[in-house]
Amino acid sequence: MNPLLEQEYMNKIKECKEKAKKYYNSGAYGKASEEYLNCSKYCEILVKKTEDEAKKKEYYNAFEKFVDASVKLKKMKTVVGSETKRAREETETEEGFESYIRENLMHRNNETLPSWADIGGLEKTKNTIKESIVLAYARTPERVEIEGWRNILLFGPPGTGKTLLAAATAQGLDAAFLNVKAGQVLSKYYGESPKIVNALFDVARAESPAVIFFDEIDSIALSRGAEIDEATRRVLSSLLTELDGLSGTEKFVLFLASTNTPWDIDDAVISRFEKRIYVPLPDEDARRCILRIQLENKGFVFDDYDWLVEKTAGYSGRDIKVLCKEGVYNMVRELNPGVADLADAGLDEIKRFEIKTRNVDRGDFENAFVRMKPASTGDMVKQYMEWNDMFGAL
Ligand SMILES: Nc1ncnc2c1ncn2[C@@H]1O[C@H](COP(=O)(O)OP(=O)(O)O)[C@@H](O)[C@H]1O
Ligand SMILES: [Mg+2]
Repeated sequence: MNPLLEQEYMNKIKECKEKAKKYYNSGAYGKASEEYLNCSKYCEILVKKTEDEAKKKEYYNAFEKFVDASVKLKKMKTVVGSETKRAREETETEEGFESYIRENLMHRNNETLPSWADIGGLEKTKNTIKESIVLAYARTPERVEIEGWRNILLFGPPGTGKTLLAAATAQGLDAAFLNVKAGQVLSKYYGESPKIVNALFDVARAESPAVIFFDEIDSIALSRGAEIDEATRRVLSSLLTELDGLSGTEKFVLFLASTNTPWDIDDAVISRFEKRIYVPLPDEDARRCILRIQLENKGFVFDDYDWLVEKTAGYSGRDIKVLCKEGVYNMVRELNPGVADLADAGLDEIKRFEIKTRNVDRGDFENAFVRMKPASTGDMVKQYMEWNDMFGAL
């Protein structure tokens, strides 16, 4: 039997058992009996599907125990009022997760999301994502099967536009954008996080078309051997189950995950991703695009791009953004001395003041370069390229 499937059943048993215990403690014996019955059903499936004789026996013993417990509890008198209270609490937490996701992790207003045009370079990457979408969801001639990719892993140094790509994908499709930092959700709902993963996909299906962006997936998918606790393991297993379900659905749900440390991720998880796309540091052309996005598109005139392109070798998109901001600030500070004093003059006075500007020049950046060093080193880049050679698929 597939070990992941087996694990999934074990998790279900554990979940039902926990529920049964809670019901039992609150006096809702009828409900507890039902949950034990569910446990026994899962055991029965395991007995049938397992080939290993020793395990078969183990599952059978568990099956008998759950049936016994269920029968005994069924005969006990329920404490008045307890059932409805419990049942209400259960649905309330599920709805609670969904509304948490809708309110905190979902963007529906796509006008505020970045678009493809806001991304400099990465033409091949953009193309692959667009292609996958079309192939996964376009109609095919009768009896022809073309499978696109519904889950994609983006990996590369920090600040290279992974989040940007995911957001632009949602923007381009006018899809709901569900932006989840894996670690954040894990720690906020520790112990209950497998349910929040299910809720996430439920919301995505309900809101379809939807793009789920699962950032920092390494925080839950560490390779075997690394210490991971039971709760994390359960989140991962429900994530994998949901991913398996994606290819079968008519609903448009695209799953994009990202990581800065792909080598830390469990092989089984890596292999689940149909596409693994390297998002590298920007090359010359890409840097030129990003610089124009940060300067020209924001209304600043600068005529020495060649120089700046050369000076920013090794910088990520985010590094370039910070650098440009510094450069512009230097220019603004020079032309508007004493601007800080205005803060004491009140908001009206501030609003009346118009900031003076001029063309940006090399001198504005000299200072910024002293303070700003690129976040990624050559050694790190080498590591990404090696990993890409082994596992990448563009
Ligand atoms: N290719 C790019 N084109 C334009 N801006 C970029 C690019 N890469 C990064 N940036 C800038 O850096 C910021 C951080 O990028 P982000 O997508 O969050 O990086 P990552 O998710 O890879 O860490 C973006 O908001 C954007 O301003
Ligand atoms: Mg990011």
